Amino acid sequence: VNIGALLFLFTLCCLAKVLQNQRHLSNIPPGPRPWPIVGNYGGFLVPSFLRRRFRRGGGAVKNAIVLLTDQANIYGNVFSLFVGSQLIVVLNGYEVVKDALSNHADDFSDRPDIPTVSIMTKRKGIVFAPYGPIWKKQRKFCHSVLRNFGLGKLTFEPCIQQGLATVKTELLRLNEESASRGVDLAPLIRNAVSNVICSLTLGQRFHHEDREFSALLDLMDRGLEICVNSAAVLINVFPFLYHLPFGVFKELRQVERDITVFLKGIITKHKETLDCENPRDLVDMYLIEMMAQKTTGQEDSSFTEDYLFYIVGDLFIAGTDTTTNSILWTLLYMVLYPDIQEKVQTEIDEVVGRHRVPSLTDKGHLPFTEATIMEVQRLVVVVPLAIPHMASKTTEFRGFTIPKGTVILPNLWSVHKDSTQWDEPDIFNPQRFLDDEGKLFRKECFMPFGIGRRVCMGEQLAKMELFLTVASLLQAFTFRLPDGKLPPPLHGRFGLTLAPCPFTVCVSTRGGVL
Ligand code: HEM
Repeated sequence: VNIGALLFLFTLCCLAKVLQNQRHLSNIPPGPRPWPIVGNYGGFLVPSFLRRRFRRGGGAVKNAIVLLTDQANIYGNVFSLFVGSQLIVVLNGYEVVKDALSNHADDFSDRPDIPTVSIMTKRKGIVFAPYGPIWKKQRKFCHSVLRNFGLGKLTFEPCIQQGLATVKTELLRLNEESASRGVDLAPLIRNAVSNVICSLTLGQRFHHEDREFSALLDLMDRGLEICVNSAAVLINVFPFLYHLPFGVFKELRQVERDITVFLKGIITKHKETLDCENPRDLVDMYLIEMMAQKTTGQEDSSFTEDYLFYIVGDLFIAGTDTTTNSILWTLLYMVLYPDIQEKVQTEIDEVVGRHRVPSLTDKGHLPFTEATIMEVQRLVVVVPLAIPHMASKTTEFRGFTIPKGTVILPNLWSVHKDSTQWDEPDIFNPQRFLDDEGKLFRKECFMPFGIGRRVCMGEQLAKMELFLTVASLLQAFTFRLPDGKLPPPLHGRFGLTLAPCPFTVCVSTRGGVL
């Protein structure tokens, strides 16, 4: 009936050939007994047309994270499972995650070669690049560009503020138009956040109704959707399927081509208009670095146009959904906890007033606002299992042998729910980040951006965006659910990151500057 079903059966048969690998490993961490052929979580390999039958709403994967965390109660904080014949070790709780990513940083900082991801990224760029000197150089360069943008004349703040002004105007307009239905904040916030990445990398902002820009964002979404949630997951078992001339396989190649044309076009325009004395953005800086390395005779330099292309893609993918969803979750919690929303607003009124918009210089003076954002990030970990790590060599870890090539999943969600570190971890309580004098204090076990060598490269930028957006929107508006509407379920929807289930809000203005 269905090509997908045939492929699935084919996959099961061929997986048998790798089954024996599971048996040769000794002293690996304990874990549930793997099923023949598919391992413990064969479901990951099942295409969506079959999975949909068993899935209720978008909560299934979130529940899988709860399930993984629960397995730690049975097998301990370091446990193993198999997907097919691939050994995966899940790290749970603060002590274990910190031990692995800080004390064994050199052993556990590689990334696995996941065929769908490798096909899309060629293992270049930063996010999925193998741990080694090339990744290190590229990351160091991009990190320094991000820092320069944050501090120098090309600072992020005006760029973020400009996006927020548009969000507020649009929000007001849509709120008036929608009457009691409420406004979906997601497209507005997503556009503002993507525009920050656009300004940083491509030196240009796009209007939220710009067709080319919306098309690019849609293409990226579609590419991810295909890789994560369609028969294309079978490419992870049989990479040759990528070349099939039909269905999602064909579509995936087309999406890849369209993204390439868009981004390469922008890089070409940058080359034509480059002024080395006045770099406009990351692409300019990278092109200048490329030329500098050529003139100093570094023939084997990894700084190439090709690499630049994948870095730009990485920044879009790593920097858009994560930040958008963190902002949306914070606004959702404000709707659900109106008393906290009011407390944040009171603090903003006292420190900033209503006649100017909040700026980054206010950040240190708004501890309750910051604590509220952090508490939402603690409770809702938008990248709950970080990005998969891989052991680059066989390593002894906490009495177990972790063979080279093992996929390591640091369960950040479990760290934020670790009852040895947090009182009543399931309760939403911003106060936990404040001391007796109301001052903010940092806890090491708070790690929404991960830790160690692969810690999020955009952490500082994301924090700026989160703070300015939340402070600015709560200064201008009070958010509530439309009358008679139930709140969305809090398990969220898991794509590449954990997003809130769709919700709409009504806003009332609070007077003052918009
Ligand atoms: C990696 C979280 C925003 C760029 C990561 C990781 C996490 C994370 C958990 C994986 C760490 C690991 O593998 O151990 C977040 C959250 C964000 C956010 C919660 C927003 C609230 C951003 C932004 C950018 C960015 C705005 C870009 C400007 C990256 C990059 C990596 C990464 C490039 C890969 C680092 C590497 O492999 O060396 N992020 N991120 N992120 N993030 Fe973010």
